[in-house]
Amino acid sequence: MTTMMKQWVMASRPVGLVKSTDFRLEEVPIPEIREGQVLLKTLYLGVAPVVMRYMTNETDFERPMNVGDVMIGRGIGQVVESKCSAYKVGDILQTKLGWREYSVIEDDPYYLTYKMRNTDLRASYGVGALGLNGFTALVGMREICQVNPGDKVLVSAAAGGVGSLAGYIAKALGASQVVGIAGGEKKCQMLTTQLGYENAIDYKSDDIPEKLDQYFPNGIDVFFDNVGGELLDHVLGRINRRARIAICGRISEYLIPPDEYHRPRNLYRIGLKDAKMQGFFIYDYKKRYAEYEDQIAEWIREAKLHPLEDIEEGIECMPGALISLYEGTNGGVRMVRIDTNIDTDGNDNKPHR
Ligand SMILES: NC(=O)c1ccc[n+]([C@@H]2O[C@H](COP(=O)([O-])OP(=O)(O)OC[C@H]3O[C@@H](n4cnc5c(N)ncnc54)[C@H](OP(=O)(O)O)[C@@H]3O)[C@@H](O)[C@H]2O)c1
Repeated sequence: MTTMMKQWVMASRPVGLVKSTDFRLEEVPIPEIREGQVLLKTLYLGVAPVVMRYMTNETDFERPMNVGDVMIGRGIGQVVESKCSAYKVGDILQTKLGWREYSVIEDDPYYLTYKMRNTDLRASYGVGALGLNGFTALVGMREICQVNPGDKVLVSAAAGGVGSLAGYIAKALGASQVVGIAGGEKKCQMLTTQLGYENAIDYKSDDIPEKLDQYFPNGIDVFFDNVGGELLDHVLGRINRRARIAICGRISEYLIPPDEYHRPRNLYRIGLKDAKMQGFFIYDYKKRYAEYEDQIAEWIREAKLHPLEDIEEGIECMPGALISLYEGTNGGVRMVRIDTNIDTDGNDNKPHR
């Protein structure tokens, strides 16, 4: 067995958008485990916008990150050595692995470790559909928006990790029409041909209010929002009575100072329309992850949900994969395959694309 591994550390705290010099690749010995710990071999690492917020210490749910710390990040790992009764060799875990080829974790709530149940499906789904992306889409659509049969639903950042699953979930819950918003012609085509959306709005070139009026002549029942800002305001102006809005994210404002945030003019319509608008945080739903995983796995097997994965290869890709997320280059769940020689009991782990 090799004794050295690669890991990324934060070389400097980002100012504005993250850049490659904010990261440093190191080679270090594979750590030894103590009683109560397990050693995991990283299979896939997720690439999510929240990582940049960890780097700027803008999240109050993470331990502060300092220059020189290993990059925080969730992924899928296989237990290769265990001195912890909770996990055995061969288990596939979703956890805070960090950006490294091997990691040591213990049975501690900080890691939010979750043992994959549906191991007949691809291990990579643990980063996307059967991981926090899928659970977030499900909580937003089912728990927060309570999608009812016949609802007309809108999703922003619809071609991204969460958005590429949210449309399918709304349809599985009975929505009669699901419209997605994304940037660029290619992504909009992806929405209607690969991601189950009936209509697509290109926020970079379409007139958004005009398109919303065209696709929702009778108003919007549900909005699953990943973007925030002015877009949310346009939607508030078109909600139906008892509409439900899930504030999942607001990526359009992650890189600007608070005094530049858009102030919605149409907020009053929440009261006028007896509507509901609610934020949520997927970590708060951890007791139900197993139930969510089983539900989404069932939809995958029934071909009601087709996960779209955007897989890059090798740990060296990590910074570029994160930076380009802000340029919108991903289609579906962005992840990086770290172990290119994965052994997961014969699962097909080859990238789709
Ligand atoms: N509430 C929770 O617990 C929770 C959990 C997970 C994620 N989230 C949030 O959910 C959202 C999606 O996360 P994800 O991991 O699935 O990322 P993602 O959607 O795969 O990637 C981000 C996407 O956002 C779009 N985007 C980037 N800058 C934008 C801008 N200025 N205006 C509009 N769109 C922009 C890009 O797509 P386009 O090319 O279409 O612009 C990009 O592909 C994020 O806001 C994230 O913070 C929340």
